[in-house]
Amino acid sequence: MTFKWTKDMRIDDGQIDADHKKLISIANKVLTLEQSSKRADELKQLIQDLYEYVKYHFAREEDLMQKLEYPDMKSHQTKHENIILAMNLFLANAQNMDEILVNFRKLVSKWVIDHIMDEDKKLQRFMDAKVKAFLKKD
Ligand SMILES: [Fe+2]
Repeated sequence: MTFKWTKDMRIDDGQIDADHKKLISIANKVLTLEQSSKRADELKQLIQDLYEYVKYHFAREEDLMQKLEYPDMKSHQTKHENIILAMNLFLANAQNMDEILVNFRKLVSKWVIDHIMDEDKKLQRFMDAKVKAFLKKD
């Protein structure tokens, strides 16, 4: 079973959503690789790609939060830092292929999916309310 971006994950109908779709697609490559072949190098490269894209994406989100003067930015940023730390730990310890495969789905669902549904959705509600208030003014 792979991951799927669904409408209830919608954040901005823009770059953030595009990033989330890309993260899910990289994660799915790892999961499909798991089913077909077990090539350690390719697997590690894909997980590294996911890690790099997560970092790049978090920076984009934080930049957006700053521009919007998002009141929960600090706590959201801390959650990003914790995910990066956990990913570092995972990568540093990712020696054993079977272990990686067992943990990967669980980790993606925690680091990507849960984060979107909890923290990023808070940002989405804040942005939508801001747009609504702005439209009301005119
Ligand atoms: Fe986030």
